[in-house]
Amino acid sequence: MKTRVPDPNLLSFSYFFPTGQTDHIWSDEAAAATPKLDRNVFLEMARAAEDAGFDSVFIADTWSGHQRVAERYGHQSPKFQAPLLAMGLFAVTEHLGVITTVHTSHHKPAHVARMGATLDAFSGGRWGWNVVTGFGDAEARLFGEAGMAAHDDRYAVAAEFVDVVKRFWTEDDPIEHRGRYFTAEGRIKAPRPVQQPTPLLVSAGASAAGMAFAANHCDQLVVAGNTVEKIRAVDDRLENLLAASGRTVTTAPFAIAIVRDGEGEAEEEYERLTRTLNVHATMELAADILGGVESIKEALAGEEPQEAAKAWGSGRGILKLFGDAEQVAGQLVELKKQTSTANILINFPLWNPGEVRRFRSVLDHCRDAGIWVPPSERSFSW
Ligand SMILES: Cc1cc2nc3c(=O)[nH]c(=O)nc-3n(C[C@H](O)[C@H](O)[C@H](O)COP(=O)(O)O)c2cc1C
Repeated sequence: MKTRVPDPNLLSFSYFFPTGQTDHIWSDEAAAATPKLDRNVFLEMARAAEDAGFDSVFIADTWSGHQRVAERYGHQSPKFQAPLLAMGLFAVTEHLGVITTVHTSHHKPAHVARMGATLDAFSGGRWGWNVVTGFGDAEARLFGEAGMAAHDDRYAVAAEFVDVVKRFWTEDDPIEHRGRYFTAEGRIKAPRPVQQPTPLLVSAGASAAGMAFAANHCDQLVVAGNTVEKIRAVDDRLENLLAASGRTVTTAPFAIAIVRDGEGEAEEEYERLTRTLNVHATMELAADILGGVESIKEALAGEEPQEAAKAWGSGRGILKLFGDAEQVAGQLVELKKQTSTANILINFPLWNPGEVRRFRSVLDHCRDAGIWVPPSERSFSW
């Protein structure tokens, strides 16, 4: 058994694992330059993340979308199913946590309880669940449903789903659950999760319902914001909710990192990549994603659809870590000082194993500054 004890003085690092030739930015140059995704590349990327010192990888996942152009160019495609991929990554790593996205819409709690228990037991307590409700009607129709539930109702379904999963994980006696959305009786077979009280639960909703869900049911909230002030504002909103619930929930900003030695090189690379943004693919992805995400719709309100899509596709709304290793570490120290960030999700637009390994120099500076300790020296991946 492993009991999670977050250290508020430390930052952990999650590498946003490739779920396509590009994750952010949806640049054709990046799609052509990144290694073609197959078994060897996935395993090499996991080893690179562990060698670099990353505490975990985070694997996003979606089921559908009418994204023909995006697929053709490799933007957010191909997307291997996250929990299946995790088993492969656990087999070739020792300390790396793997946070996988799994939907609460369309599935049954017993499926996820058993799958999560297997992942956590197999990995010796290294599995985390990114709880998502899904992006839209196209996903729902795959499962024979007419469409997605209304926005806030999805979180009500998710809350009940997670409650039942946690009961399956933690109760020894058979459960008897008759709720509004789910009915479940009995016990799941062993193994049960290694992490106590449960595996790490993460969510990313920023709407009022999404944040209330995180405050009441999760351990970590992914935050999208492009300035320290915006991230702090989310911390403050979350703190208010936690004062009522008495729970601890940490925050994890999502960032794009470009670490380059030469003065201005990182910024130049970002500008170059945004010039080759595949606008058609970006419009397709945005049509699926923006439609279902209240907080992003709000952030881009008033912009023409094409401009809003371009802004989203080039990661305008998220934190940028640009510069040499020392400068990037300096930004991270400042972020840690000014916010309650516990984990940071790092996305490399031009990802490859070398790019991931090079991040070690940033982590070494963070260690010198007292905000990071390698996962191999701690008992937890988060
Ligand atoms: C960094 C990040 C990663 C996300 N990954 C996924 C994902 O893999 N699959 C998914 O269906 N939703 C994903 N989401 C969407 C969230 O789960 C959530 O639906 C979204 O942020 C909207 O929530 P809101 O309407 O409460 O603001 C992600 C969001 C962020 C910010």
